[in-house]
Formats: sequence, C-alpha cells, structure tokens
Amino acid sequence: MTASSYQHLLADMTLQEKISQLVQLAGPFFKGSTETGHITGPMAEMPITENHIINAGSVLGVSGAAEVRSIQKKHLEQNRLGIPLLFMADIIHGYKTIFPVPLAIGCSWDLKLAKRSAEIAARESSVSGVHVTFAPMVDLVRDPRWGRVMESTGEDSYLNSAFGRAFVEGFQGNDLTNNLESVAACVKHFAAYGAAEGGRDYNTVDMSERELRESYLPAYKAALDAGCEMVMTAFNTVDGIPATGNKELMRDLLREEWGFDGVLISDWGAVKELIPHGVAENEKEAALKALTAGVDIEMMTECYVQHLESLVAEGLLKIELIDEAVLRILALKEKLGLFENPFRGADIELEKEIVGHADHRQAAKELAAKSTVLLKNNKQTLPLDKQAKVALIGPFAESNDLLGPWSALGAREEAVTLRQAFEQIRPVNTFTVAEGSSIDQVSKEQIAQALAAAADADVVVMALGESSNMSGEACSRTNIQLPAPQIELLQAVAALKKPVVTILFNGRPLDITNVVSHSDAVLEAWFPGSEGGNALVDLLFGEINPSGKLSMSFPSNVGQVPVYYNHFNTGRPKGAPDAQVHYVSQYLDAPNKPLFPFGFGLSYTHFNYEELKLSSVELSPGSSIQATITVTNSGDVSGEEIVQLYIRDIAGEIVRPMKELKDFARLALAPGESKEISFSITEEQLRYHHKDLSFKSDPGAFELFIGSSSEHTFSQSFILLKEGGQSK
Ligand code: NOJ
Repeated sequence: MTASSYQHLLADMTLQEKISQLVQLAGPFFKGSTETGHITGPMAEMPITENHIINAGSVLGVSGAAEVRSIQKKHLEQNRLGIPLLFMADIIHGYKTIFPVPLAIGCSWDLKLAKRSAEIAARESSVSGVHVTFAPMVDLVRDPRWGRVMESTGEDSYLNSAFGRAFVEGFQGNDLTNNLESVAACVKHFAAYGAAEGGRDYNTVDMSERELRESYLPAYKAALDAGCEMVMTAFNTVDGIPATGNKELMRDLLREEWGFDGVLISDWGAVKELIPHGVAENEKEAALKALTAGVDIEMMTECYVQHLESLVAEGLLKIELIDEAVLRILALKEKLGLFENPFRGADIELEKEIVGHADHRQAAKELAAKSTVLLKNNKQTLPLDKQAKVALIGPFAESNDLLGPWSALGAREEAVTLRQAFEQIRPVNTFTVAEGSSIDQVSKEQIAQALAAAADADVVVMALGESSNMSGEACSRTNIQLPAPQIELLQAVAALKKPVVTILFNGRPLDITNVVSHSDAVLEAWFPGSEGGNALVDLLFGEINPSGKLSMSFPSNVGQVPVYYNHFNTGRPKGAPDAQVHYVSQYLDAPNKPLFPFGFGLSYTHFNYEELKLSSVELSPGSSIQATITVTNSGDVSGEEIVQLYIRDIAGEIVRPMKELKDFARLALAPGESKEISFSITEEQLRYHHKDLSFKSDPGAFELFIGSSSEHTFSQSFILLKEGGQSK
C-alpha cells in the first residue's frame, strides 16, 4: 500500500472506525472477543467491551506467535476495511533472553553491545509477533529514590543520548518494512519523567525551559534523530501542565520544532489522569485536551472512544486532528508492512528456534560482565585464587531473581544463579552455600549457618541486594540502604575477619557506606539478566576483568540526593583556596561528594594516565584541537579502560556545570601496553542553551579533563576564540 492508498482508506472510514485506531487495549480485551466473560476487574466495565466487539487499533502486552496470529486473524475477519492491529509491548532489556537492566547497560559504556542487545530483543520479540517496543526509556535520572532509574542509562545527557541512538538502531535496523527481525521503537517518557520531585513516582516535574532543553530533552531528540518511530508521553506535569495534555511540549516542540511526524502514544491511563491532575473536569475534557495537545493513541482508557465523536459533532474538535492522527497510525502500519502481511514476523516454528538462542545468551553474558562495576578491591582480594575455598552467602547466593523489573517474558527459572554457575566450574568440595538471610529478614539460625560456612572458607562471597520488586515503576523508596537484616548478616560475617567480597544485586544506586566498610571488595552487578551467574563467576575468578564505570553517582547517604557530577558550582564552593570555614556550601554532617562518582569503576589491573597534551591552547570556531593522552596498563593482566573526556566552561552567560562529559573511548590494553588516545575538540561541543534559549558557545576560557572517572582526571586549559580569531 502506498501513502496515497492509506489516504484513500481514510476516506472510506467512518468516524467511529477512525476513532478505534486511536485506542490501545491490553490482551484480555481481544481474547474476550471470542471467549465471552474473559475480561474481569474494572476493565470489564468499559463500554468498549460491549458485545465483546473490540474497537481498537493496537494491542498492548501480547506476544507469542500463535496468540498474536490468532488475535490478528479474528480481528481481520471482523474488520470491515481489513486494517490490521499493531502489537506493542514492553521489551525493555530483552524478550526471553534478558540482558542487564538499562542502568547496568549504561555502566558498560559499550554502545556496540547495547545495540546488539536491542537487535536480539527485536529478533526474539518480532518472531513472537511484537511490532513495537516501548523502549528506549531515556529519562535523565538524578534521584535514586525513584524506582525507575533502573530503566534509564543514567544521569548524563550525552551518555543517554548515545545509548538512546544505539538502542533505536538496534531495535529498528535499517529497513522496518522488509527486515522481519526488527521492531519499531518508542522513546519515552516525553518529557522529563526522571525529574519527579522527591523521587516519588508520577510526581510533579518543574524546571526552567532552559534546563529542560539543556539537560533533559537531548536524549529524546537523539533517539528521534536516529529514526525512532514513536514517542510515549510521561505521567508527570511539565511546568504545571501534565505532559499528556501539554500542547507546548508535543505540538509546538515535538512536532513543529523537531519535525516529528510519527505516532505519539499516551502512557497507560495518562489521558484519563488529566482529571486527577486537575486540568480536566471530566473524560470529555481530558480527551479534548490530549488530542488537541497531540496524543494520537490513548492507552488503556476510554476518553477518546467515548467522547471524540460528540466533541466533533459539537464543533469543539476539528475532524482534521483525528484524521492526522489516524494517518500517522496507518503510516506506521504500512511501514511495518502489515497491510501486505498482517502477521509480519510472527512465526511459530522460527519462534522455537530463535527465542532464547545460545548466541543470544552469550551476548547477554558478555553485556552482564561489561555492566558490572568493581567499586572496591582492597589488597587485591579479587580476582579470587582458583584454589580458594569459598563460602557463598546471602539471599542472592541461589536466587534466580536476577532479571530485574520489566522482564515479564524472561523465565526466572532459566536465569543462571550464582550457585549454579559455581557448580558448573568448581568441584563441589571447594565451596559452600548458605542463604544467611532473606531480603528483609534474618534469624539466629541463618546467621549461625552463615558463620559456620564462612569459618570453613578462605574467602567469603556475600550476595546481597534488593529484590526486583523494590525498584521499577511505582517503587520509590526513601531508605536506599540495603535492608537492615542483610547488613546485620554482613557485619556478623565480616567480624570473622576473613576476606569478604560483596556482590550487589539492585536496581538503583544505594547508600552502601556500611557495605563498603565491611567488605574488602565490592562488585556492583545490578540485575544482570539471564546469564548473570555465569558472568559473575568469570569476574570473580578473573576470567574476565571488570571494566564497567558508573553511569549514575552513588550517594554517601540519602540526604545528599540529588547528587550528580555535572552540578553547578556555587558562589561559596567548599574547598576553594579562599573559602571560609563555615559559610560555604556544605552539609555539616556529610560530605558534598557522592560515595562513588559518575564514571567510576576499578579494574584488576592499573591504568596510568600521563602527558595530557593539547595540539593548541586556542580553538577557533570552525576548526578543532586535539587532546591527547597516553594510557598504560601497568599491571600484569589485560584490561579495558573507559577513558573519559570532560569540559568546563569557566565563565559563561549562564553558570556552567563543573564538568560535562563530551566523549569517551574504550581501550583494551595488554599488560605493559601503552596507547595514545586523541579526542577532537570543536566549538560545537561547547555550545549550550543561553538565557534566550539560543544554542551557542561563549568565547573565553575552558578547562578540559581526561581521566578514569568524573573525579579522577588530568586537566589543561584552552581558550575558545571569537569568530575572526580574537580572544574574549
Ligand atoms: C506504564 C509505564 O510507565 C510505561 O513505561 C510502559 O511502557 C507502559 N505502562 C505500558 O506497559
């Protein structure tokens, strides 16, 4: 079908048929079309289910080739114009083969592997009938109290943009129409959902438009520039107006200014939520506001289906707005090839072959290893001696709760646990296992068993963390320490004075001060996915050298939150040469700095940085200078180092962050090997949003930093010349 033919389809559609395209419902509604009485709960009350005839254009959360084919077939038998359904689902970090959670993937700084993870997720889900994934989530996150930080790649807009692009490229490939192993991507949550006040989910977001554009919007834009087909709205308000009814955000910025002409979908129930938010008195007003603001598809509520018709009849809504939305949806169906082949990739035989394929598991293992961050390693406790007798203790010693939130289709029983991974590579008499505590309870007997296991071992591996239902949507917490019973267990074991290695499984940066103080080594494993155990055992025994670097700061305590690396200075910064002792910007009872900063992560080897050189200390607009540094692996094992480039604008029209990530590179170095790495600096990289929102640079002094984290850097100064070559 060509563009003109679906235009033609539009001409044949009744208003009701058009409106049905703008409705998205979950699976049970569709099963209900043949199995009467299938729908239960509040959804059953929706008039849309009358006579069990489903008037919707897309389906949420259904997958499985047989299921999708059957729903599509029944739908097409009933649909007068033969317009196929679109199947959308949350394929966030894998379909059946589960990769580490996105925050962990962020810590890999490995864009190629991130892209590969999305390709695999697309492959597995497409063959299972999915057409669109609700990913990537690129919300900038600075508050670990928010349970959804695990869905983002972190606190930096440059890094989030790079990952956003990589995920979109991986999901969509180059040819959505003909490549049946691809799915369309839907970037979310537009916009700034990650800035919810107090880290409480769904809460208010309020910031200047300048900050919105400077820090929060770039990653959505990057995903769209990479060709992302869809956008999902956010639940929060932006400057007093819920994102889902926010015309300025969607029509003016997203559509007009950025030229986005794809499909915009509300988040679940977000159109109806305009009522409790307090910008609509009833569903009719909510429907009017959302559609006028630009929402094409209403997910899971019935404001559109109930009220758009009368809004048009009463002259309150122009039919053209509905037509435009319908056309965008039809265009996406066309692009996915659904008019030609409504079943698209859904293939019952191939599904058996492809889903969970060994190659996919291998990629999941590789990414889990690269996403793990070594936070502490005193006295080279890690890697473990291969002969060492190990006590594996803690609620994650044998837990298969390794997939993390948003992994509904991943099978926990297929996740490799730490214990299973140990069993595969070590004789049984070389390790013992004790649960020690559950996630949030501990008994004297459990501690006694743990101590007995530890007493008999050369080294203790503590596997501690949050269960996966402690992070993710609607899982905000004000206490971001490990549950107290696990700390009690750790302290009891540490008192034996054996070497203690703690592996953490969690979905957010935690306050781990008391974990670090009772451990000789700490590995942050996040929720590592289907191959977690295998990856971790390889890391423990040095088969793989850790190389992950934090993409979100770990606070020293919750009172510091939000604490992030690219903050502004103040007029009274702590530690300045002329600073007073008392009247400076500081906490009386805690440091200003996080416990572990953005970009931080250790290795089993050492990397020395030397000789940071600039090709010139003057940069002219239109040209570039090179910043070069030599990195040497001074240890005795091979390793990979993520070399990071940051820049600070010393004095701008607007105050500028202390440091901003501008580039990075992963270097693989054999023992004793040195490599020189060069970064190119151009005037474009120095641009930012000014008071009048113009995006430009300020001539003058800059400082450039290269190093192994946002805190550990070498620096040089340079000057950005004015156009024409004068200094400021
Ligand atoms: C609500 C979540 O906020 C969103 O991220 C998700 O894609 C939808 N539900 C659909 O499940």
